[in-house]
Amino acid sequence: MRLLVTGASGQLGAYLLRELDRTDWQVTAWSGKHGSAPSQPVNLTDRDAVTTAFRAARPEVVLHAAALSSVAECQRDPERAERVNVAGTRCLAELAAATQARLLLVSTDLVFDGRKGNYTEADAPAPLSVYGRTKQAAEQAVLATPGSLVARLSLLFGPSLIGRAGFFDQQVQALRAGQPLTLFDDERRTPLDYPTAARALMALAAASCTGLLHVGGGERLSRVEMGRRVARTLSVDPGCIVAQSRLAAPAPEPRPADTSLDTSRFRSLFPELRMPSFDEALRQLLGA
Ligand SMILES: NC(=O)c1ccc[n+]([C@@H]2O[C@H](COP(=O)([O-])OP(=O)(O)OC[C@H]3O[C@@H](n4cnc5c(N)ncnc54)[C@H](OP(=O)(O)O)[C@@H]3O)[C@@H](O)[C@H]2O)c1
Repeated sequence: MRLLVTGASGQLGAYLLRELDRTDWQVTAWSGKHGSAPSQPVNLTDRDAVTTAFRAARPEVVLHAAALSSVAECQRDPERAERVNVAGTRCLAELAAATQARLLLVSTDLVFDGRKGNYTEADAPAPLSVYGRTKQAAEQAVLATPGSLVARLSLLFGPSLIGRAGFFDQQVQALRAGQPLTLFDDERRTPLDYPTAARALMALAAASCTGLLHVGGGERLSRVEMGRRVARTLSVDPGCIVAQSRLAAPAPEPRPADTSLDTSRFRSLFPELRMPSFDEALRQLLGA
């Protein structure tokens, strides 16, 4: 299978490349400005560059993981968020439609407003952030493309493989150093570890299901609970974790309370895919 993966230089992209390395698929990997071989830089906002590189790759499947993924950055620069997340995705969707390539978009639980929790694919998105709104618009462009699939992932966690610390690395570092760590006790997600997310996306890339699918971990956890579990796995005192309400933290955009995902459709379609519990994934990732 000829697979094109975008966002290969990102946190998730690095885990995807590691998994893809174990297959005999013919992989073309695109990055943004941080890429290095084996990925090639292709700026999604440059339509001509995308078209030329797409035609050279002749993908049968496109796993579209690239995005302006920082909620804060999207809020600061909504035009750029629109160009990368929406226009970039539309361009890929048009190219995929014209060549009958199967397009798989990596989307997010942050398309929901968090009032309900345990969201199914039938629930209506109502994003609270620029990031969520651009991802929802990208979803619409992809879902209008025949044979395509949108996989909404929950919060992803795991050590960075790309030398740029994410929230997980920062938490682990703070906990190991016994530094105070303030985490929300009223923001809930269904966290999923990067290796499992990468394997799930590869299973989806190889399958023929279409439409919308929710892919997340099996437990609905607050940020504080996640932090305490990380501390326990590291055998450090969780006493340095301070619980705070997200409502007490000033932010330019409201943070959704509970964007946990109901993943029963995904689990019934892929019963053979092992989905480790949060604690099990932590033990594997932290070598505990
Ligand atoms: N992390 C999470 O918790 C989470 C949860 C749910 C869904 N998601 C989705 O998962 C995907 C990957 O997220 P991530 O955490 O791996 O994000 P990330 O680390 O920020 O990676 C984003 C990727 O997109 C690329 N990119 C950004 N702007 C680009 C542009 N103009 N042209 C080409 N490539 C561009 C980046 O390239 P450079 O770095 O080389 O510029 C990078 O490879 C995103 O679609 C995100 O919405 C993430």
